[in-house]
Amino acid sequence: MNADEQTLIKADKFLLRYMGLGGNFTPFIPERAEGSWLYDASGRRVLDFTSGQMSSVLGHAHPELVATIHEGAGRLDHLLSMMVSKPVVDLAEALAELVPELPRSMFLSTGGESVEAAIRLAKVVTGKWEVVGFAQSYHGSTGAAASATYSIGRRGHGPLMPGAFAIPAPNAFRPRFPGVTWQQELDDSFELLDRQSTGNLAAFVAEPILSTGGVIDLPVGYLAALKAHCERRGMLLIVDEAQTSLGRTGEMFAFERDNVMPDILLLSKTLGAGMAMSSVSTSDAIAEIGYSRGFMFATTHVNDPLPACVALKVLEIIRRDSLVEKAAVLGTRLRRGLQNLMQHYECIGDIRGRGLLLGMEFLPRAGHTGTAISQKVTQVALDLGLSANITGAYTSGVIRLAPPITSTEEEIDFGLNALDTAIGRVVETLGS
Ligand SMILES: Cc1ncc(COP(=O)(O)O)c(C=O)c1O
Repeated sequence: MNADEQTLIKADKFLLRYMGLGGNFTPFIPERAEGSWLYDASGRRVLDFTSGQMSSVLGHAHPELVATIHEGAGRLDHLLSMMVSKPVVDLAEALAELVPELPRSMFLSTGGESVEAAIRLAKVVTGKWEVVGFAQSYHGSTGAAASATYSIGRRGHGPLMPGAFAIPAPNAFRPRFPGVTWQQELDDSFELLDRQSTGNLAAFVAEPILSTGGVIDLPVGYLAALKAHCERRGMLLIVDEAQTSLGRTGEMFAFERDNVMPDILLLSKTLGAGMAMSSVSTSDAIAEIGYSRGFMFATTHVNDPLPACVALKVLEIIRRDSLVEKAAVLGTRLRRGLQNLMQHYECIGDIRGRGLLLGMEFLPRAGHTGTAISQKVTQVALDLGLSANITGAYTSGVIRLAPPITSTEEEIDFGLNALDTAIGRVVETLGS
């Protein structure tokens, strides 16, 4: 038995499993990572086509981030919650430059925390407490965030927050009611919400692309229609860009495509590019009402200087190196490659997403579910040196691809070739 096999056995013995049924640890144990690649102790390398947990948009061990962490840790790491520091104020200013309508920010550690803070702010500001999300959403594992999460993780974890409602996300590939437009579906959903609500609708929490739910992209115009529904009811629109911000979709923020301004904007995974970091940004008006009504959300690591230094550097690198534009170009290359695979393999039903956040949905074939096929494909791909993952915690047959936006064309092509070979091998084993 080699050292990695021993580590996996120990992992099963000593680690608490946290991914639900079927959530086994990956049989590849990275020892170090650099750029888009992960390396195990034997030197075997695997291309990271998920950016870790969708976070490492600049790849791994980016020399400038390494230097920033080193320097920042040596200078000013952590402070009393009410002390401000220059990196934190500079980061808030940098975000305000990017989204002038939402100039007031606070910084936390995780995406789930940012959702918690946003929901508490919305409650205080509106004086109401009902929160609506998409039935395919993922916003985190903590209280209010888990209550607004419907894609996974609800069974056995109740009671969740009272006043949590869901509406279906529009799904162009699998429409709930074929022939019904998304506009009609949205209007009907809100009519149903109005019937269920006790008159306390405070906020809608939305991902612009429902990543965990199966990379479901909201159609152009949807966010604007959603915002209009929220405004009519005095609800705040919270846009959770944990996975979609800072260039990944080919724009700095995914909401920009739709010309809609969220009331509260949440960033997390990509903001720290691998470091625990999240932000909550809002307008002056909402910030002032929140303050006047005693909004409170404090954590040990609120507005910590060290992760703020990292996020500032992440923003600087993305803008300086034109990585937003680069992600758009690489995304087109990846999408074209995946579309070619779809021409070749009839078990691929759909390619969707934006920029470098793409999903590939597998259809049932020869008695195998789409999920089973996608699982086999990711297993074989890993053997071939590619790490890709399945969304929705194994409940849908969608492989999600989110390579770093610093990837090279050669790396994108390596990933496509590995997927081609993996799908070919799996198809051969399916039988008819
Ligand atoms: C859209 C979205 N929001 C929130 C979260 C939760 O973030 P975290 O796991 O950092 O709490 C995630 C994590 O996958 C996410 O994808």
